[in-house]
Amino acid sequence: MKKFIYSVLALLMSGLVHADEGMWLPILLKKYNYEAMKAKGLKLTSEQLYDVNTSSLKDAVVWFGGGCTAEIISDKGLVLTNHHCGYDAIAGKSSPQDNILDNGFWAKNMSEEKAIEGLTIAIVQRMEDVTDKVLAEIKGMDEKTRAAKLPEIYRKIVKAATEGTNQEGLVREMFKGNAYYLFVLERYTDIRLVGTPPQSIGKFGGETDNWMWPRHTGDFSMFRIYANKDNKPAAYSVENKPYTPKHFLPINIKGVNKGDFAMIMGFPGRTNRYEFSQGVQIATDIVDPAIVALRDVRLNAWKEQMNKDVDTRLKLSSDFASVANYWKYFRGEAEQLKRNKVFEQKQKEEAAFAKWSANKAEYKNLLGDVKTTFEAYKPYGLQRTYLNEGILAPTLSKFIGMAMSMDETFEKGDEKAISKMKEQMIEGLKDLPYNPMIVAADKRMFDSILVLYYNNIPKDQQPAYMNDVVLKYNTDNPRAAIAAFTNDVFNNSIFADENMASAWFHNPRPALLRNDIAYKFIKAMRENYMSKFKSKVDAFTETSQALGRTYIKGLMEMNPSKTYYPDANSSLRLTYGTVKPYMKYQMITNLDEVIAKNKKFPTNPEYNVPQRLIDLYNAKDYGRYAMKDGKLPVAFLSDNDITGGNSGSPVIDGEGNIIGLAFDGNWEAMSGNIHFDPANKRTINVDIRYVLWLIEKYGQAPQIVNEMKLIK
Ligand code: ARG
Repeated sequence: MKKFIYSVLALLMSGLVHADEGMWLPILLKKYNYEAMKAKGLKLTSEQLYDVNTSSLKDAVVWFGGGCTAEIISDKGLVLTNHHCGYDAIAGKSSPQDNILDNGFWAKNMSEEKAIEGLTIAIVQRMEDVTDKVLAEIKGMDEKTRAAKLPEIYRKIVKAATEGTNQEGLVREMFKGNAYYLFVLERYTDIRLVGTPPQSIGKFGGETDNWMWPRHTGDFSMFRIYANKDNKPAAYSVENKPYTPKHFLPINIKGVNKGDFAMIMGFPGRTNRYEFSQGVQIATDIVDPAIVALRDVRLNAWKEQMNKDVDTRLKLSSDFASVANYWKYFRGEAEQLKRNKVFEQKQKEEAAFAKWSANKAEYKNLLGDVKTTFEAYKPYGLQRTYLNEGILAPTLSKFIGMAMSMDETFEKGDEKAISKMKEQMIEGLKDLPYNPMIVAADKRMFDSILVLYYNNIPKDQQPAYMNDVVLKYNTDNPRAAIAAFTNDVFNNSIFADENMASAWFHNPRPALLRNDIAYKFIKAMRENYMSKFKSKVDAFTETSQALGRTYIKGLMEMNPSKTYYPDANSSLRLTYGTVKPYMKYQMITNLDEVIAKNKKFPTNPEYNVPQRLIDLYNAKDYGRYAMKDGKLPVAFLSDNDITGGNSGSPVIDGEGNIIGLAFDGNWEAMSGNIHFDPANKRTINVDIRYVLWLIEKYGQAPQIVNEMKLIK
């Protein structure tokens, strides 16, 4: 009896506490979540959430550019996403003469919309559990063979599912390889910019407020999907027509209240919720601080040049924003993993598992093996980070990385491959802006990164090149040697000059490359990694993946009544919960506070606002978008479980209407990718009323609002 009461209580408790945890697979909602969702206020049928044959939410929630989410909000393929998701496209269309990043842009009609080369939007057609098919092919394989074989198996499954159609497919591994799902997509390639506020609104608060609440960012931008006359994907053409969606989201402008049902569908990127305690330690003590230190250097070097020149600022803005975003992220993650005692919590979970598995052959050695595996890896824990976030981060290194692949193609001597590669390289150069200011930034970061490398990578892990070449520049003083070496690199490498670099790619001569000082350096660094550390890093990745897979399988056996959700992996998911404040904080912010922040911090450019916004604020013309207290809402909180990649996702009410646009998480829960913390974890959303007010009143583009279906 006692036990019974206890378990009922535990069930209730877990229902209360964990209700909003989980990034669920849409195809399984009906089976696992639908009743709980109804209890929270969902009014739709499960078919309206996800169905293959009738139109459902999944037809309106789209994958934007591979890294964000967006949603279709009109029958003419109008798409809404975050400003920070459209940022690269917006900055790419900006110049000092036509500066839409700083000034905003609102197409007056469709002919003014700006085609964005390279941007694509993918729409999920269906998904399917292909676990049996995959497992049948990899049965009995060791981890290395399995990892090598998987891509081939995926290709086969995708081919069978999409052959003869214009669709594409991808297979995603779930639960570290306990399950596999196929997603079939249609990818639209004619995408045009429809509207964006100036970045002083769309990115209000900048890096200062990023990852924090209270928040006042009008983080939205709008695009349109174009299709051919059959409504199918097609390359850009003036003949193309606005896409007619199977479903689009109506807009609820009635406003949000505490406790309202709120669900978010989207494409969350990556979580690692089943990580072992040792992995948490590697994050807090080794990897996260290194990423922060290396990004610090890059950001400072860029900032210095961006402040000098508008053209350089526009060229670097997008890269700056994305590097800064995760610079702050990793600072927060390390801090909050510690503050929320995630290591200790994981240890407790592992202790329970150890107890349960003590007599089970399959599991009893697992945690011991985990310990050995992580201990063996720890000494090399910085190798990959210092290469990717450090040595290879300057533009100069990226040029050399490209030239190196070119060189390898030369060695093979295949003329056709060489000319194809040349084309690709010249195309690739467009994404790597370079001018004398960017070279100056590059030089500063190259120098600082090398100092960090020299100081923080164990000496016996550094390449001989360090001693034999770099330190020879000044045998008494390593710091001075690195500075002198850096000077030599930037005085003499052809890749430290935008014209010479570009000339090399147009007329690639291997001999010139092989004599280049920067090339020799990068090559030495790379070879050091490839010959000494890659196999260790790979072995760790494979083994820890296999151990994680067994651990999750064991956890599921240990708790048979619990429903598990897979880690985020850039596939379509749904999270549900409610509109909800936390701690001492308010639940909704308003425009008064935007103006107040601007006044309070006059010297922080991240709190600049356009005069027009101040004028409109003074006029108080909020119309149908005002809250009951007469103020204009800006952002609100909900307790959904999201992560990066969910940016731009719709926040949807119980009837299937959009009430907001998810754009961030809160500082106190930055440990969220590794451990869900129900008390602290919140999603930060732009209120849809602020979005519509900005389009209609600020942008004076009521025709865009008129396209939408409003629920008043
Ligand atoms: N932290 C947010 C996200 O990852 C927004 C990032 C863009 N803003 C910025 N200040 N860099 O979705």
